[in-house]
Amino acid sequence: MKTVRLSIIGFGAVGQGVAQSILSKHDYLHKHGIDLRVVGISDSGGCEVDTGGIDLKKVIARKKQTGTVAADSERDFDLISDVEHDIVVEATPTNIKDGEPGLGNMLSAFQSGKHVVTSNKGPLALCFAELKEAAEDNGVLFRYEATVGGAIPIFNLIHEALAGNKVIGIEGILNGTTNYILTRMAEERLPYELVLKEAQELGIAEADPTYDVEGIDSACKLVILANSIFGQCATYRDVDVTGITKITPEALELASKNNYVIKLICEASDGRLIVAPRLVPKRHPLSVGGTLNVASILTDLAGRITISGKGAGSIETASSILSDILYVARNS
Ligand code: HSE
Repeated sequence: MKTVRLSIIGFGAVGQGVAQSILSKHDYLHKHGIDLRVVGISDSGGCEVDTGGIDLKKVIARKKQTGTVAADSERDFDLISDVEHDIVVEATPTNIKDGEPGLGNMLSAFQSGKHVVTSNKGPLALCFAELKEAAEDNGVLFRYEATVGGAIPIFNLIHEALAGNKVIGIEGILNGTTNYILTRMAEERLPYELVLKEAQELGIAEADPTYDVEGIDSACKLVILANSIFGQCATYRDVDVTGITKITPEALELASKNNYVIKLICEASDGRLIVAPRLVPKRHPLSVGGTLNVASILTDLAGRITISGKGAGSIETASSILSDILYVARNS
């Protein structure tokens, strides 16, 4: 049995989803020879540390009751650098202004020789090359499957399953909120404000939903994809972005009459990075509805591969994080 110790930094929907998944997969993990122990969890209220392994059920219940994981908010140590463990799961909220606190957390993890698994888009949309270099310099792994497409294993598909292929271009829908809004407006003829509110109630919209509807969240994901696949050093500010705020019910209706839907499409090819609403034929593989995401990857050997699935959600995002944790467990 291989013991792997990890910390979870940030205990919102994603962090709690990771803890729930580790609990529910206890037997599966043991069957595969892995003993995953969460030795530290932190949120804005403080942290809980147990080097023998935290009782996750107890901590999830405490978070629900008190709003924090912390039994005691006083501490004179730094969980990431001072507590001995192998993997830092960085799941603090995305901040695209300066990437903090995620950026500092990831750099601190690398400097103290820990692998990083993250769902946090901000630091990668701003400083991808710097983070990759810091991981390499410190001889540790950096995995970020959960940053793009939620549950969809897009980086695994490209870097592992399609290894040997040259990726010529990628296009897709990488934001569930805008897809939900456009689908509901087109199919149910509901007003924009109402469906945006519905998306917020589903818990998939960003804390500031202008990031979704103005295409910024899509731009962040597109730039992470492009940097990872094409080795670019772009930031989300290099993406040519148009959001969906000017799409009218009349435009959606006219498109529908002609057998088209309007989708917020992300495209990376020939060094160009574009996010913009586009007409897509109703039967086209990119025409997925509701909160779904989709990515269509054009390669030299395999041709076009299209993959679709849930782009957000606590357990769905935790699926990608758990897969990255297991990758690190097996390859370190
Ligand atoms: N606000 C994002 C979306 C959440 O709607 O896709 C997942 O990154």
